[in-house]
Amino acid sequence: MTDLQKRLHEIIAPVIAFDNEIEITEGKGSWVTGADGKQYLDFACGIATTNLGHRPDDVVAAAQAQLNKLWHAGGAFLYEPIIEAAEAIVGIAPDSIEKAFFMNSGAEAVEASVKLARKVSGRQGIITFRGAFHGRTMGSVTYTTSKAKYRQGYHPLLPSVFVTPFPHPFGWDMTQEEANAYALRELEMKFRYEVTPHEIAAFLVEPMQGEGGYYPASREFLQSLREIADEHGILLMIDEVQTGFGRTGDWFTSQVYDVEPDVMIMGKAIANGLPLSGVASSAEIMDQWRPGSHGTTFGGNPVSCAASAATVAGLRDVVPTVPATSEYAFSRWNELKDRHRTIGDVRGLGLMIGIELVSEGNTPDPHAFEAISAHAIDRGMFILNCGPDGNVIRFIPPLNVSREDLDLGIDILAEGIAAYENR
Ligand SMILES: Cc1ncc(COP(=O)(O)O)c(C=O)c1O
Repeated sequence: MTDLQKRLHEIIAPVIAFDNEIEITEGKGSWVTGADGKQYLDFACGIATTNLGHRPDDVVAAAQAQLNKLWHAGGAFLYEPIIEAAEAIVGIAPDSIEKAFFMNSGAEAVEASVKLARKVSGRQGIITFRGAFHGRTMGSVTYTTSKAKYRQGYHPLLPSVFVTPFPHPFGWDMTQEEANAYALRELEMKFRYEVTPHEIAAFLVEPMQGEGGYYPASREFLQSLREIADEHGILLMIDEVQTGFGRTGDWFTSQVYDVEPDVMIMGKAIANGLPLSGVASSAEIMDQWRPGSHGTTFGGNPVSCAASAATVAGLRDVVPTVPATSEYAFSRWNELKDRHRTIGDVRGLGLMIGIELVSEGNTPDPHAFEAISAHAIDRGMFILNCGPDGNVIRFIPPLNVSREDLDLGIDILAEGIAAYENR
């Protein structure tokens, strides 16, 4: 154990588990540097947050310039970066999105979205989807069902939250169409037996489940939710915290699927790693949220907002390249799937790709992930997993990753998979 690891265990609450207790001192682009000088390819991306890689020059310059001028306002007075960040985001968002409210974390933004939905609709019920991850606060953990462990020991959670299945075709051994039909049938049953649709304020849904195992909703399923929401006056709240800012091939996944959200929730890559999150909607909805109904001290921090506007500017040239990079990455992963029995499924959108590792009979194999991740660390690369069994590799390189680094990352993981199969 290094000295820093000893200090970690003495002073930091164990609840914040570091996947790897390896000290990193610096990051630039797709790479980070260990305290011992070792270079690591960072395909963890701070959990799909550093979409432009570490410390992109223009974002650094914008944040530094703001740091030298004003770094906190706390709602006492107006400052331009908050307006610039909102204008930048509304400019790239779906047409239905016209006004934004900024906070610090994804969970806070989820909490705010539910308060907004209840306030505006006068209804209490929230429908969420099994396998979803929306955060760790008491409210957001109520909407989170990606792992029972996240909720264990915290009951009672919030009332009037109804959980319904989200299509998991691979896990259910179904086609996407069968899984969509099953999930929609269950939603119908929810309305028939548990709660009437006119008691529901909002659907809260990820357009592609992240922590839950990298399952895309599919265009058909999300469009069906849009139709059901319209039929019953339910708000469709799309949580783009992990999927936003180019990750899935367009600015937001709702644009990939041509579905207009009523409320959009953002975080993670919004400022490429500086703390910022947001909830955004039409002016008609947002204008019903009157002054004092909600608030924040740190939300919309000037430095984070300056970084956010620069992040959006920096992504302008990058987002259009994501579909081609994605196609290449998928072709390589699908080739590997044909060669390796451990790869049960390759799925996702854009550069948010899940590689599900399995043993005999498509049984989830978390040991495969552990072995492949250990191999990657040894070879100088970080990856994360997801899914209730921890057996899905999240393949989330920076969106501007070079072809050389992309290939290197896939090669390292392929070697790890081969070594695991030949163990
Ligand atoms: C879809 C989604 N929503 C909300 C959150 C919570 O964000 P935070 O960890 O910033 O509170 C996450 C975090 O992983 C997420 O993936």
